[in-house]
Amino acid sequence: MGRLSGKVALITGAAGGQGAAAARRFVAEGAQVVVADVKDEEGKAFAEEIGAHYRHLDVSEEDDWTSAVAEVTDVYGPPNVLVNNAGVLHFSTLQDTKLADYMRIVQINQVGTFLGMRTVVPGMVEAGAGSIINVSSIEGLRAAPFLTAYTASKFAIRGMTKVAALELADKGVRVNSVHPGMIETGLLPTAFGGQPVDLSFASKKVPMKRVGQPAEIAELVVFLASDESSYCTGAEFVADGGVTAAHSLSSFG
Ligand SMILES: NC(=O)c1ccc[n+]([C@@H]2O[C@H](COP(=O)([O-])OP(=O)(O)OC[C@H]3O[C@@H](n4cnc5c(N)ncnc54)[C@H](O)[C@@H]3O)[C@@H](O)[C@H]2O)c1
Repeated sequence: MGRLSGKVALITGAAGGQGAAAARRFVAEGAQVVVADVKDEEGKAFAEEIGAHYRHLDVSEEDDWTSAVAEVTDVYGPPNVLVNNAGVLHFSTLQDTKLADYMRIVQINQVGTFLGMRTVVPGMVEAGAGSIINVSSIEGLRAAPFLTAYTASKFAIRGMTKVAALELADKGVRVNSVHPGMIETGLLPTAFGGQPVDLSFASKKVPMKRVGQPAEIAELVVFLASDESSYCTGAEFVADGGVTAAHSLSSFG
């Protein structure tokens, strides 16, 4: 028996990066997985490769959530795991941040997480079981310049995770947040218009002297989805190579 046998998991933003790494591990641990994304071609091919089901889901769209959760229920039964992983990044100074850019980041990262939780919770409460994993960031714990919108959205995810956890704690539904440090995915290149980004500048600043890999975050997400984390709710799980252990006067590299 896999660690996730009996789990029906919906993972957003799972066509690539950390979502894809989690989806792969979930299938290996016996979960029935729905890979959801807006990148339909990549998502479908990936889902087929790992033996998952693909579903188009723009997390910022309320109606998409309703129909996606209905489809998961038709295909595998009601989801008892939700990984709110889809996210986007935008760099600009506070004074140069256009409202449209701010709202785009908040609509996907923050509103998407809210809509996802709100859509799956009734089914989880009815079943008396569920685990929701909200992917925040170290920017949900600490600040970085040029990331007003992203940081706002990731602090909001951390906060609403705790509200949901408290409301659902006696109903069998657990809600936790995950806070990755810098992980080697398409997130930064996408924010820079698709350009490759050399992450060696960041590696030097990490106490472990390297950025993280998507598979290292997937292990944490598997734990939180599984019954191994049965007493964990409303908590923050950090995987950042030691970055948030330091304050800004610390010197690394
Ligand atoms: N990579 C990092 O350094 C890092 C660090 C901390 C937190 N995170 C968070 O981890 C999560 C996963 O990011 P990643 O690093 O794998 O990035 P990624 O860009 O590789 O993957 C993000 C995925 O989300 C999808 N997506 C974007 N907008 C969407 C929408 N509206 N609806 C559905 N899907 C959408 C993209 O198509 C993509 O497949 C994000 O929430 C990100 O903020 C990443």
